[in-house]
Amino acid sequence: MALNSNPRVGLVGWRGMVGSVLMQRMEAEGDFALVEPVFFSTSNAGGLLPAAIARFAKNERKLQSARDLKTLAACDVIITCQGSDFTKEAHAPLRAAGWKGYWIDAAKTLRMADDAVIVLDPVNLPVIKNALVKGLKNYIGGNCTVSCMLMGLGALFKADLVEWMTCTTYQAASGGGAQHMRELLTQMGTVNASVKALLDDPASAILEIDRQVAATQRGLSAEQTQHFMVPLAGSLIPWIDVDRGDGTSLEEWKGGAETNKILGRGAGFGTAAIPIDSICVRVGAMRCHSQSVTIKLRKDVPLPEIEQMIAADNEWARFVPNQREATIRQLTPVAVTGTMQIPVGRVRKLAMGPSYLGAFTIGDQLLWGAAEPLRRMLRILLEQ
Ligand code: HSE
Repeated sequence: MALNSNPRVGLVGWRGMVGSVLMQRMEAEGDFALVEPVFFSTSNAGGLLPAAIARFAKNERKLQSARDLKTLAACDVIITCQGSDFTKEAHAPLRAAGWKGYWIDAAKTLRMADDAVIVLDPVNLPVIKNALVKGLKNYIGGNCTVSCMLMGLGALFKADLVEWMTCTTYQAASGGGAQHMRELLTQMGTVNASVKALLDDPASAILEIDRQVAATQRGLSAEQTQHFMVPLAGSLIPWIDVDRGDGTSLEEWKGGAETNKILGRGAGFGTAAIPIDSICVRVGAMRCHSQSVTIKLRKDVPLPEIEQMIAADNEWARFVPNQREATIRQLTPVAVTGTMQIPVGRVRKLAMGPSYLGAFTIGDQLLWGAAEPLRRMLRILLEQ
């Protein structure tokens, strides 16, 4: 169903971290000019649009209530970054009331539903187009780790070269949310302050500094570790999201389940799923998720061919030569943060044999990992 010109696009959760990044990207790409934005609020319905978003508005100058199904249902498209609770609360009642609009969100609630597509169009535009033809109305952004990985390595999947893959992730604090980022930085400050005098003294003993750092980390209060539950500054946490009770975390399960669904593979598509398994680790990076992958190729493809495929797959993937200088300059969270680039490096054949490939990839989890696939889905709807 093609949208009318200037369709009503309801925006929910625009104030949060992912929502704010979405607003920035929609502004940068001129998306607001193509729609009638309707801003919803769960806390300040009826209020005037705050300055941060007022310049994006056309006729709708007031905040609408995100609890008002009728006003939501008057939208042709709803894009929400409000989180899974809102999706649970609003989506089913809207559909039950007969709403036929397009629902675009970034929450896990609907991702694996049969009537939902996980959107990452540089990787799965054919899957999205096919769903549009079939009349599907739910288009959901994928798990950030999965989306960032596929933006870098999608070429190998598209060419059906991957027999299986295993990853170790290095996930940033932002994946937990804004409060997690603050907690990490506060912990860093606390740790640093506890040894500042010793650091300032060049004659101090490093093992004494180390002893005090460990004591400070272990001594962080429940309040200081409220969000991560344990210290993250100067440490790492090899478990992300809930315990599924079978030895895996939910984040690890998503890696396999969502990657296959994005690619249009697995039971729902009548093809064999590609086995993908991970160990997901939280590290003290701010907003870039990284991952080290081992891929078993279906055949021995020469390395230059693989490098060429990665570099040519989409305009954001950047092949980084497997050399020290290029790697430490280009393949780090600090180099990538706030950019749309997805560098892929450390690409080499492994000691296990010529069909075993190692690689390392990074992406900003708030951009390709969250906001960008949503606004691109809106563009796909507008261009239908
Ligand atoms: N679950 C991810 C994380 C973020 O905790 O890093 C959202 O996809």
